[in-house]
This record gives sequence, structure tokens and C-alpha cells, in this order.
Amino acid sequence: MNTHILRSVVRGVGAYLPERVLTNADLAKTVDTTDEWIQQRTGIRQRHIAAPGETTSQLATKAAQAALANAGLTGADIDLIIVATSTPDYTFPAVATQVQANLGVQHGVAFDLQAVCSGFVFATTTADKFLTSGSHKRVLVIGAETFSRILDWEDRTTCVLFGDGAGAVVLEAQESDGTLTSPGIITSQLRSDGRHRAKLYVDGGPSTTQTVGHLRMEGKEVFRHAVGMVTDVVKACFADAGVTAADIDWFVPHQANRRIIDASAEKLGLALEKVVKTVELHGNTSAASIPLALSVACKDGRIKKGDLVMIEAMGGGFTWGASLIRW
Ligand code: ACO
Repeated sequence: MNTHILRSVVRGVGAYLPERVLTNADLAKTVDTTDEWIQQRTGIRQRHIAAPGETTSQLATKAAQAALANAGLTGADIDLIIVATSTPDYTFPAVATQVQANLGVQHGVAFDLQAVCSGFVFATTTADKFLTSGSHKRVLVIGAETFSRILDWEDRTTCVLFGDGAGAVVLEAQESDGTLTSPGIITSQLRSDGRHRAKLYVDGGPSTTQTVGHLRMEGKEVFRHAVGMVTDVVKACFADAGVTAADIDWFVPHQANRRIIDASAEKLGLALEKVVKTVELHGNTSAASIPLALSVACKDGRIKKGDLVMIEAMGGGFTWGASLIRW
């Protein structure tokens, strides 16, 4: 039996959504689309859009404050901040250092991580390595995005899919007996394959165009790969932890598209009532979608202490990954 190992245990969860709601009907006034098309193909009914001047670091800070309050902690208790984002305020410095300053934290370290829609799973897994190595005690893992700023609002094939928002989780290193029933991150799987770059990318950047650019996507191609990739990493987590779909209490996938979520759950043999879905109200908020969904499901009482939770995502790169967490 493993004794005295360290586990990364969830202490708190929080989220923030910008005030402005953009409905499908609102979008139909500016691009050639309909509420029916968007709902049928994606499940999305509305998304939140950041106000002019409202930045990713501001959304991230509000989500971080909510997570700290939920944990009963303050910035003084945090020694690592990781922000997963593809829509930073500036090319540099990192959003994470701005959040650090906004929280009044002057110790420890803060950095950004970019894995597009998989960013939160990558950041959680990275945080887990820091915590279980014993080098850090408490981490704020934040997913924060203002995708509205990189959308081509004349391209109906992409602009209807995304929204803005932020979510955060506080993870704490705790002594553990390392068993499946003990709290914390049990296992994670991360993958990437850069050959898929052209299927989902932004057509600008500092080193190419010196502009921010717009999101471009071959939607059908992304869809074709998504289900296989996410179910692979989820099954790898099952195998590593010695669990089956029946053991999972809550499946909290990246919220890109209802059809991808449902197809993945079905392929994994997960009952639909165990699936947390927020895509209808938030759209695809990229790295923010999982912590936003976790926050909703914790607040409404679905996810409780002791539950076994699987998070997974797939995104640009391609990148993809999953983590199994005992709440
Ligand atoms: N409103 C109305 N019609 C539209 C719209 C729109 N917003 N967008 C496209 N159409 C039209 C197309 O022009 C096409 O018309 P045509 O047949 O006359 O050429 C028709 O609808 C069908 O288009 P498809 O692209 O074949 O539609 P599809 O059923 O594949 O759905 C979608 C498109 C929703 C993008 C789908 O492919 C998808 O969900 N892909 C996954 C992409 C995704 O979720 N990416 C998120 C980022 S990656 C991630 O987070 C995993």
C-alpha cells in the first residue's frame, strides 16, 4: 500500500461570466444564420461577450477571487498561479502575472499555458506535477478567454460557436494514502499532434503577420477527430486507475458542441444524466469551459465531496487530454 504520497486536492471552484448575453436571435440579425440551425448543430442558445475594455485578466481575476472565497482562502495562501488562455490581454506579459498583481500576491510564481481548448486540462495536469513534487503547496488553476476578440464576425461557420468567460480551481497538496477513494487527482493523460495545425488555427500572430488574427476552422474535420481523441484519453485514464464508466459520478467535458459531448459519452458508455452540459448557455469558451461547468455543477449541488469526476478536452494543435479527480 502507498503511504504518505502527495495528492492535488480540490479546495475550491469559482467562475465569472461577462454581463452581456448574445443570443442566437441576436446573431441572426448580423450574419446569415438561424437559432434553429445553431441549436440543432451545436446545442448552443446563447453566449456571454466581454464588454469593450473588459480583458481576459479581468475575467480571470474575478474567477480566481470566487474560487478563493469558495475555498475559504486568500491570495496569501497561493504559491502558484497558472492561467490557461489563447486570448491574452497582450502578447506579453502573461495574464497570470496580471492576476497575481490583481490579487495582491507578491510571492510565488505565475505563468500562462497555451493549449487552446485543452488548456484547462493541461494546466491542471501541470499544477498536479508541481504539487505532487512537493515544490508548491496551493495552486490557482484558471481558464480564461475572450474568444470574441479573435472571431471573424462575418464568418457564420465560426462566430456562432464561441463565447467569453473564466473559471478557476484551487488545488492543494495533501498527504494521501494514494487509494482510489481518497481525494485528489488520480491520473491524467495529455496528448498532442501538430500535424493537424491547419484544421483549427488563428491566422495571425506576432511572428507572422504582426496582427492578432482570426480563428479559422474546418469544423467537419475537427468534429471527425474529436470523439475518437477524447474517448482514447478517457479510456487511458480508466485503465490507469482501474475504473470503468460505471464508477464515474460526473463527466465534465470541454463544452464545444452538444453533439461531440453526447457522442463521446455514448461511446464511453456513460449515462447521459452523469454528463454536465453548459454549452447551451455559455457556448464554447475554450480553456474556460471546464472550470465554468465545474463551478455550475458544484454550485447546484450535483458534484459533491467524494464524487469521481472525469474532465476531458480537445482543441487546436491538435491537443487533447483527460483527468480523473476524486472530489
Ligand atoms: N448558420 C446557418 N448555416 C450555416 C452556418 C450557420 N451559422 N454555418 C455553416 N452553415 C451552413 C454551411 O455553409 C453549409 O451549407 P451548404 O451545405 O450550403 O454548404 C451547411 O450549413 C452545413 O455546414 P457543415 O459545416 O457541413 O455543418 P456541420 O453539420 O458540419 O456543422 C459545425 C458545423 C457545427 C461547425 C460542426 O462541424 C462542428 O461542430 N464541428 C466541430 C467544431 C467545433 O466544435 N469546434 C470547436 C473548437 S475545437 C474544440 O473545441 C473541440
